Amino acid sequence: MTEVGDLPAIGIGVVGCGDWGRNHIRTLAGMGRLAWLYDPDPARLAAAAQLAPGVRQGRALDELLDNGVAGVVIASPAVTHRHLAEQIMGYGCDVLVEKPLALSVAEARTIARLAADLGRVLMVGHVLEYHPGLLRAFTLVAEGAIGEPRYAYSNRLNFGKVRTEESILWSFAPHDIALMLRLGGRLPVTVSAESAALLRAGMPDVTVTHLDFPGRLRAHIFVSWLHPFKEQRFVVVGSEGTITFDGVGGDLVLHRQSVAFEGGVATLAAAPAEKVPFATGSALGNELTDFIECIVTRRRPVADAASGIEVLRVIEACATNSGPTILTAD
Ligand SMILES: NC(=O)c1ccc[n+]([C@@H]2O[C@H](COP(=O)([O-])OP(=O)(O)OC[C@H]3O[C@@H](n4cnc5c(N)ncnc54)[C@H](O)[C@@H]3O)[C@@H](O)[C@H]2O)c1
Repeated sequence: MTEVGDLPAIGIGVVGCGDWGRNHIRTLAGMGRLAWLYDPDPARLAAAAQLAPGVRQGRALDELLDNGVAGVVIASPAVTHRHLAEQIMGYGCDVLVEKPLALSVAEARTIARLAADLGRVLMVGHVLEYHPGLLRAFTLVAEGAIGEPRYAYSNRLNFGKVRTEESILWSFAPHDIALMLRLGGRLPVTVSAESAALLRAGMPDVTVTHLDFPGRLRAHIFVSWLHPFKEQRFVVVGSEGTITFDGVGGDLVLHRQSVAFEGGVATLAAAPAEKVPFATGSALGNELTDFIECIVTRRRPVADAASGIEVLRVIEACATNSGPTILTAD
């Protein structure tokens, strides 16, 4: 992966300086690339500015016109993403829009069309697609370390942050769906979800999504913001072993145990679990480096607009909750 120090010193702005925006601010400041901050809430803006003393604070978005900011991270609530992305691209900047790209496939496609028409970079904040541990897990799968992937699951469980404008599916699951689409290499053939709305009618707090990919790969994703403890686990079970990634502890482990059937009897062959080292560096740092490199080189980001739209296609199909939905290629 490219080092940010090898790239020209272009300036990046952050719009939306809340909980997650502050992580972008810290990371960009650490890279020496933070140029401009904007939040309509003066208290949020002032608190964010303390993380990066001396960085310009915007009073209005149109200050982005011709002011030397090349790209903007949009880390505001999802309901504002479309409008802000359109406005900021119109001011001449490339954009990294936090997940979910929008709150419908139609909206996401509108943003993507505008980016294509204006020739802007449009990237989505699927940060786990840049996690060194998960990148190593995908390399192990591609190298055949576990044989043929047959089953995968991802758990993203925590207590909070309960959002008012979107359900758990839109808030937590985009990351896991992006990982599953990368593992499967294409859209699943069918998707379905069971959900429970425990706090507010029609607004699920817990969901289990099932994905059936062409061939033998099946997967499920379990997300909840009412879970008493934090768990982030990505597991791929293959024909010759299993890979587990613990997103909280940070361990990537290769398990080479297997099962053989002899005369109808299952024989388990145990093997010691093997902890797999992976590159250092933060997922967010890698994501922002990709954004900066795309701005400079005009190539497509790893987490591009198409990936943002495919993730929303899965979510939208699941959100209808009307039984398995068949997805067709665009
Ligand atoms: N990639 C990840 O892992 C990750 C993690 C958490 C959140 N997120 C995403 O980041 C986004 C923000 O989440 P958060 O938890 O920081 O929310 P938050 O509510 O803590 O912060 C949102 C900020 O946006 C500001 N804002 C509201 N309307 C705005 C507008 N029109 N223009 C500019 N700023 C505006 C608010 O004042 C607030 O400071 C969401 O899309 C969320 O899904 C991504």
